[in-house]
Amino acid sequence: MKKRFEAEGAGNFLSAKEEVKNYICARTPLVIIQSPERERVERMLKEIARELSCDIFYYTDAKQLCKLGSGQSSNADSDPLLHIASIFKKTRNSTFAFGDVKRIGEDNIFSRELLNILYLAKETSGTLILITADAVWSRLAQFGMMTSLRYPDIDERIAQLGRFVSAYKGRYPIEWTDEDLRRAATLLRGFSEIQIENILSATLIRNAGLYRSNLHELTKQKSRLYGSVPSIRPVRPDPDLKVAGLDGLKAWLVEKKKVFFASEEALRQRDLHTPKGILLAGVPGCGKSYSAKMIAKEWELPLFRFDLDTVYDKWVGESEKRMREALEFIDNVSPCVVWIDEIEKALSVSDAGNDTGKRVLGLFLFWLQESFSRVFLVATANDISALPPELFRKGRFSEIFFIDLPSRAERREAVEQYVKRSLHIPLDERDTEQLIDLSEGFSYSDIEYAVKEIAQTALTDGQEIVTPSLLVEKFKEIVPISKNNPDMVRRIREWGRERAVAASKTGGSEA
Ligand SMILES: Nc1ncnc2c1ncn2[C@@H]1O[C@H](COP(=O)(O)OP(=O)(O)OP(=O)(O)O)[C@@H](O)[C@H]1O
Ligand SMILES: [Mg+2]
Repeated sequence: MKKRFEAEGAGNFLSAKEEVKNYICARTPLVIIQSPERERVERMLKEIARELSCDIFYYTDAKQLCKLGSGQSSNADSDPLLHIASIFKKTRNSTFAFGDVKRIGEDNIFSRELLNILYLAKETSGTLILITADAVWSRLAQFGMMTSLRYPDIDERIAQLGRFVSAYKGRYPIEWTDEDLRRAATLLRGFSEIQIENILSATLIRNAGLYRSNLHELTKQKSRLYGSVPSIRPVRPDPDLKVAGLDGLKAWLVEKKKVFFASEEALRQRDLHTPKGILLAGVPGCGKSYSAKMIAKEWELPLFRFDLDTVYDKWVGESEKRMREALEFIDNVSPCVVWIDEIEKALSVSDAGNDTGKRVLGLFLFWLQESFSRVFLVATANDISALPPELFRKGRFSEIFFIDLPSRAERREAVEQYVKRSLHIPLDERDTEQLIDLSEGFSYSDIEYAVKEIAQTALTDGQEIVTPSLLVEKFKEIVPISKNNPDMVRRIREWGRERAVAASKTGGSEA
């Protein structure tokens, strides 16, 4: 979970390099560099060797023994630990780096041998640098200092993208502006330097250049990178998806999109964070789930559906573990939109006095408040009264919207949209007005249903049957949700109008 104090930039190349340099100058016997990117650490050590004008001996299984900077390598087929020991014995103040170190997470023969070498390093003012992506046995770790080089931060990614674009500018058409570079750099969070290089090269070759329309291809790579978590599934919204109405929600999203994609620097200068997300409550069939997909499509971000209820398990500790894994996955694949549908169904588990439920909810709320990853959460709910009140506290959702039955203007938009798409006939103003009158109290999905019923008949019986009067007849037949379940709709509307912001500026239907 990325927190405020671990903001991007804390583990970047330059600060890690300064730290390691200081440890070497202080002749610290052990320096552990935790990083999954060996090549980047290697480059860092080369720069340090040059800047301090010192030799750093370096061993990896692939390269064998070499002196960083000089590029000389020699065969160390025999045990590399013997080489390290002999270098420390021969020359005081030697520095030796060991890449790809494995099997040092626990007490074993190898870790113990390393421990002996560290006693020797201490006597001869030697420094041993271990590069590893894994945990280190506590007795070894106690001998020295640890620093971590995480994946490139936003500034490094912008710089890498800049270098890439300059290198290919003359040979390929490159349409990306500085703003696009920043956006690409935001999208490529969580990738190693080599992965970024590979993704950029592949995108460049595939499209014979870098065009604005290629930006969204970068996001597709994200979901492939991390091992999947059962409670989270990627969702690909329909590219033709079009939400009618909800102008208030749409206008709010246009503004928040700018903040969501603002640079780290711009946010830092104003002590701001990206918007966390929204809770959409409201009448069924009016676009709660549909809007979650719309946001991902409009913001060109990957969409993940998070099924909170599948996190719960009867075994002690298992639910918490699954929740932690899911939240870590989300942080890793950010920036993204995460959609939790019908959040009340999963979260109401916690009010059964069930401790596991409470702890899992606690983890989720903590993440919602503390994580500063670029994740935009869209939760939907019908029955808000079933939700735990903690969820509504400040700092959790950016806004709670209420989606009502469509107003006249919204019904007009929906009727015109669906008729155009599925029936392919023109409607005159009189027909349209009649359909708007008849659809008082309809949800959007009631309108869609009526139109698509006719479209299905047209598919089997021919387009000739499609007439405005057939539409009018169909609309008269429909029993809308507001008539089918008036009590539920009244309850949802009472709550929503009182406690949430209207998603539509034109106001809901009077049904
Ligand atoms: N605002 C809208 N514009 C266009 N179509 C819509 C709109 N709202 C809903 N629809 C249509 O109705 C279908 C159902 O909508 P959606 O799944 O978003 O409803 P919901 O509010 O999530 O309802 P529920 O509470 O039943 O889950 C959508 O797939 C879409 O085809
Ligand atoms: Mg829904």
